[in-house]
Amino acid sequence: MLLIKGGMVVDPSRRINGRYDLVISDCRVKALAPGIEPEGMEVIDAAGKIVIPGLFDMHTHLREPGQEYKETVLTGSRAAAAGGYTSITALPNTNPSLDNKDVVRYVREKAELAGLVRVWPVGAVTKGSLGRELADIGGMKEAGVVAVTDDGRGVAATDLLREALIQCRQLNIPLLQHCEDEAISGAGQLHEGSVSLRLGQSGIPAAAETRMLKRDLQIAQETGARLHIMHVSTARAVEMIRRAKAEGVNVTAEVTPHHLLLTDELVAALFAMAKMKPPLRTAADVEALREGLSDGTIDAVATDHAPHSESEKSGDFTAAPFGIVGLETAFAVLYTHLVKSRMLPLDLLVEKMSCSPAAILGLPYGTLSPGSAADLVILDLETKRVINRHQFYSKGKNTPFHDWEVYGTPVLTMVAGKVVMRDGIVSGHANEGSNNEN
Ligand code: DOR
Ligand code: ZN
Repeated sequence: MLLIKGGMVVDPSRRINGRYDLVISDCRVKALAPGIEPEGMEVIDAAGKIVIPGLFDMHTHLREPGQEYKETVLTGSRAAAAGGYTSITALPNTNPSLDNKDVVRYVREKAELAGLVRVWPVGAVTKGSLGRELADIGGMKEAGVVAVTDDGRGVAATDLLREALIQCRQLNIPLLQHCEDEAISGAGQLHEGSVSLRLGQSGIPAAAETRMLKRDLQIAQETGARLHIMHVSTARAVEMIRRAKAEGVNVTAEVTPHHLLLTDELVAALFAMAKMKPPLRTAADVEALREGLSDGTIDAVATDHAPHSESEKSGDFTAAPFGIVGLETAFAVLYTHLVKSRMLPLDLLVEKMSCSPAAILGLPYGTLSPGSAADLVILDLETKRVINRHQFYSKGKNTPFHDWEVYGTPVLTMVAGKVVMRDGIVSGHANEGSNNEN
């Protein structure tokens, strides 16, 4: 038995916010109450720290199989543990694609071997995410996927999207949609606006997102299926989702830390380190996304952790792949810039990063309720740290948050009662700064 003593516990799943001690036994939370005496238990001192349910990332790219030079299930799991995540997903845009039972099993085995955090595979909607033919969604569900998506792209063919939503409804899993009309986004590199004009680059207009979203909301309404909108980036999309929810559409949505904190202006300074899909938008969009998060239109924060190699991201801007990493910076950048600056209550951030993603995927995590799995993270909100991308456990060092001064560093991550990270050191691995082995 283990006692986590003296911490401020924030558990939005039970509206708890106060000084509590936790007893952990048999991988589970056994008790949660103030002033529990140690009585022979091993004690973890959480005085002056915050204890929350483990973070849950419903949008993680792990690159295995096929692009292990960018990330593996193991290195991504380490990055997750370092960032306070106890659950992550494995999105299907791998090579081969995670579009069949065998690859689902392969990723699950790799996650088992890594033995750090829970890794939930997400299957492709269409074979190879090519948008031509539906994948075996039922078979993948049996093998363990918790959702499907063609992320990296949207499902463009309306008939396939509709059929997939009907299957998802029968299987009781959500379809996660990357809303991008490629006929509109084309070869766009960043948000279409004054910055793209100044840089002489072709732009990705807001309509690339909203056009597909509009159709998807219609079909979700008609089928009653669970549609989840990934990485919402525009004010207009927030408004459309708000209205759809009011009309009873079974829709949920996520936003990334970068879309909540950064604008397209940053692309002029950081180039490919600020290049992702959907692109960073305008200050008005950022404002609307924050509002959507506060008022419940946006249910969850997800990282879209998208590791790429240094050479891919440091060369020619237009040739660079889209995406940035997020697992090791997400909580701290959002805590520092939204919570510490009093724009958002801490409970709400924890809900969006832990309880809510687990609920969207129908998984019993994101809670410290006695009897539930002992998945938790202890955070230091007081000590300032400077983000250093060279110290990431992830193979991907592609972040726009390098050199940012932040508070809210995870100091201990526990999965099923087992400590997988303590004081920044992930179990079974000393971080030497350049983790390019494996
Ligand atoms: O920026 C992105 N990177 N957006 C996506 O939708 C896919 C992701 C990736 O896999 O690199
Ligand atoms: Zn995407």
